[in-house]
Parts: sequence; structure tokens; C-alpha cells
Amino acid sequence: MITFSDVSKTYQGETVLGPVSGTIAAGGITSVIGPNGAGKSTLLSIMGRLLEPTTGTVTIGDAVVRDTATKDLARIVSVLRQDNTLTARVTIRELVSFGRFPHCGGRLTTRDHAQVDRALDFLHLDALAGRYLDQVSGGQRQRAFVAMVLAQDTPYVLLDEPLNNLDLKHSVAMMGHLRRAADELGRTIVLVVHDINFAAAWSDDIVAMRDGRIVVGGSAGDIMHEDILSDVFDTRVRVHAIDGTRTAVYARPRDEAYAVDSGRPRRVADM
Ligand SMILES: Nc1ncnc2c1ncn2[C@@H]1O[C@H](COP(=O)(O)OP(=O)(O)OP(=O)(O)O)[C@@H](O)[C@H]1O
Ligand SMILES: [Mg+2]
Repeated sequence: MITFSDVSKTYQGETVLGPVSGTIAAGGITSVIGPNGAGKSTLLSIMGRLLEPTTGTVTIGDAVVRDTATKDLARIVSVLRQDNTLTARVTIRELVSFGRFPHCGGRLTTRDHAQVDRALDFLHLDALAGRYLDQVSGGQRQRAFVAMVLAQDTPYVLLDEPLNNLDLKHSVAMMGHLRRAADELGRTIVLVVHDINFAAAWSDDIVAMRDGRIVVGGSAGDIMHEDILSDVFDTRVRVHAIDGTRTAVYARPRDEAYAVDSGRPRRVADM
């Protein structure tokens, strides 16, 4: 379980997060949703100690994050940052190997190499393992960073926008991998995701944030309501049941108030 109590973050007198308190259940997938600037990355970064909170305490399992040695924390929790930039020229295999450093201190054993292979295989990167990071596409690079995080083999995994740059097929595959990691390996996975339907389809719980606050938390069924989503995103969202699954629809508004072009839809040939 992850517990955060009275966690806040203030920059130059401006509070961008909290204070927020809550718990994330052990095992399963929790998705954090909300508009840009809501504080999702700030909360996730504080949970993974990439960022120091201004106030408050985070506990992961039995470990109080603030009081745990870095080396020990790295065996409990792994974190994918939202913006991954690496200027050094490393191959995908080398990058994924970095995930093993908390276990082996840089000297990979046979077991470490096996974990690296498994993570590469998991994310379909075998054929690209020898390529440098600047020789692959944005989505392939994103998968490499996720593979590094999974290779760390921690019970808690925090992922800030793991679907960034991924196409539909790889997004579905990624969520499937994470679901398996939760169900079969008992991992606790917390991820930030912008696509509400991905959050709803694959998560056990959803935490919705806005303006540095947690607006609501609960099961996908609790959150997938038009009034809640429209409020969180300050945008009209419709929810329809498709094949029994509550699905958010946010197509171009057709109301008079929104209409920018009252003529019939133009086809390319008309233009
Ligand atoms: N170093 C900083 N100094 C000042 N303000 C910051 C800093 N980092 C983040 N903020 C502000 O904190 C707020 C929350 O940022 P955060 O990155 O947590 O948002 P987010 O919900 O992850 O948004 P996004 O969906 O765009 O990634 C934003 O208003 C942002 O401008
Ligand atoms: Mg963010």
C-alpha cells in the first residue's frame, strides 16, 4: 500500500499541490487522471522521491520514503518520469541494464542479464536492442524506458504517462503487460494517463486530480460519469455504455454555442 498524508508542494509561495492525503491499495493498477497542470506528475514524483514535498509524508509498503536509503528505496519502487532525456549515447540494451544497477551495482550477473532479456522481450524490443536511443522512433524509445523500469523488478512501479508516443497497438499491449505484471507478479502499479478510456478499461482504481487537489477517487465505475469527468477536465464529456463498458466520448461539440461552421460538413473534394 502507498499512503500519502498532507502532501503538498509549493514553489515561490505558490502551492501547486495539496495538501492531499490518500492511499493506493497494494496490488493492481491505479490510474491518475486530470488536466495539464493538475499536479499529477508532482504527486507521482513525490511518491517516488524524485521531488521533495514541502509538507507531508509518503509511505510505500513499510518504508517511509523520506527516511529510506536511496539504495533500499530503489529495490522497492521504480519510476518512469514524464520527460526522459538522455544525452549520453547508449543502446537500448544498455539503457534497460541500468534498471538492474540497484541490484548488482553495475556488474550484471547471469540473473540480471536474464531480467534485461525478459524486459526487452516483454516490450518487443529484442530486434532493436543494439540500436542507440537516437536511432529509434519516439514510441520505441518510450518502450525502452518502460523496459528499464520493469527490469528494476520492484514491487511498486510508478509510471508517468507510459503511453506517451505509443500507437494504439502498443498502447493496448503496454496496458496488457502492466495488467499481467499486476495480476501475475503482484506488482502495485500507479500510472498517469490522459486517455480516460484506457484508464477505465485497465485500472482497478482511478484518482482524478484538478488544480492540485484530488477531486475524486474510486473504481472506474465510480469515476466514469459525465458530470464528474466534465468537471475534472472542464470540458463536456459524454459517457456511453459500449458492450457493457462505460466509455467516455469527447468528440467535437455540435452545440450552437460551440459551432464554428454552420454549413454542411465539407469533404476534401469540395474545398
Ligand atoms: N519547478 C517548478 N516551478 C514552478 N512551478 C512548477 C514547477 N514544476 C511544476 N510546476 C507547476 O506545478 C503545477 C503542476 O504540475 P505537474 O507537472 O504536476 O502537472 P501535471 O498534472 O503532471 O500536468 P501534465 O498533464 O501537463 O503533465 C503546474 O501548474 C506547473 O506549472
Ligand atoms: Mg505531468
